[in-house]
Amino acid sequence: MASEEFQPLQGMADLAAPEIERWQHLESQARNLLSCYGFTEVRTPVLERVELFVRSLGDETDVVQKEMYQFEDRGGRKLALRPEGTAGVMRYVAARGQDAQDARLYYIGPMFRSERPQAGRRRQFHQLGLEAIGAAQPALDVEVIALHLHLLRSWGLSKCQLHLNTRGLAGDRVVVQQQLRERLLPHRDRLCADCQRRLDTNVLRILDCKNPTCAELVSQLPPLTSFMSEEAKAYLNEVCRLLKLLDLPFEQRPNLVRGLDYYQHTVWEITHPALGAQDAIAGGGRYVLNIGGRSIEGVGFAIGLERAIVALAAEQPDIPPTRLPLVWIIAQGDRAYEDGLRLLQSLRWRGAAAQMCLDRRSMKAQFRAADRAKASFVIVRGEAEMEKGIFLLKDLSTGVQEELDMPALMDRMKPLERANQSA
Ligand code: HAM
Repeated sequence: MASEEFQPLQGMADLAAPEIERWQHLESQARNLLSCYGFTEVRTPVLERVELFVRSLGDETDVVQKEMYQFEDRGGRKLALRPEGTAGVMRYVAARGQDAQDARLYYIGPMFRSERPQAGRRRQFHQLGLEAIGAAQPALDVEVIALHLHLLRSWGLSKCQLHLNTRGLAGDRVVVQQQLRERLLPHRDRLCADCQRRLDTNVLRILDCKNPTCAELVSQLPPLTSFMSEEAKAYLNEVCRLLKLLDLPFEQRPNLVRGLDYYQHTVWEITHPALGAQDAIAGGGRYVLNIGGRSIEGVGFAIGLERAIVALAAEQPDIPPTRLPLVWIIAQGDRAYEDGLRLLQSLRWRGAAAQMCLDRRSMKAQFRAADRAKASFVIVRGEAEMEKGIFLLKDLSTGVQEELDMPALMDRMKPLERANQSA
């Protein structure tokens, strides 16, 4: 058992090869696709004022109440590690005023929630999220949902399911909460202790409760839309109509509310069957946020990358290769060593992945090092090769060996250089 000192904090993980290759693959595919839809990247700080999250996400949400990592810095400022990305991006958008009117921004990075760690729930996790700024318009919501599905599909995830609902307008919220409270109040004693409190503080959270009795009571409630304005229902109907027009499969979930209070109109969640109890791979919706006196409307989503990786590992167990094939130079003797250093530099400058042992080991030890590094080719320069003025190129996957002079070797290396790779 490794010493605790070697371990990251509970609920957090080191990410390294070989899994990191899958992450890099997803990220680079996403960057390409998002730029086709007109999105550019924004990198906001991981630390923000606590106030930003309390006011944006809602002070009665679980994220704010229970899950934020908060502290005071040496200057007494109340700070939080970001639990999600939307609030920070909206702070950035608010600061840019008119310039950010139709901004399309995406972000990739770590988020922090101090939840009880379990499968699918981490204290540091990563989101790929995006926000399309713009007033309420069903076609924009549908464009973002279409992009969401396209992105997951482009990663190779074919078993995702889209669940859709509406949170209605700000005015609907009061009526919905009132109606829910009235219907649940007679059953107060059957609700779990948390939900009894939620009845007074934030009744919508009861709809997410996993307690079987609470879930059963919730299943008997009428759909939330039945308490909403005609405008909210018409907006949802138009979103559904456009999704059908584009042949995008979805399921309406009449009690889906999502855990953050900034949403208005469309909300959705995407699940994947490989994820178990925490089956939401991503969530999104349309929102209105007020920051520094500015009201910002937009629509966006965030994908939990750890969960996307688990889903992908289930659908596609083989990690797609992202590395260039590695060439290992093996040299014996002083002159061969120095020739090797020059060859190493020249291969790297031409864009190939090349390495060599710099500590003058035996040939056998150099071959072992090449093996450990999973090199695809070795270029051997021993005494015999020096005498003949050639290089021995060995393809380690086939065992085929060739004796080549320098120009022929460089020719053979061409397909291994980055500029010639399609990836
Ligand atoms: P969210 O539903 O809180 O939405 O998080 C989005 C995704 O992040 C979840 O579906 C899940 O995959 C992942 N996630 C959340 N918490 C954890 C955790 N503790 N461990 C692992 N993965 C987790 C938001 O954050 C909104 N900002 C999304 C959004 C953007 N809405 C509009 N724009």
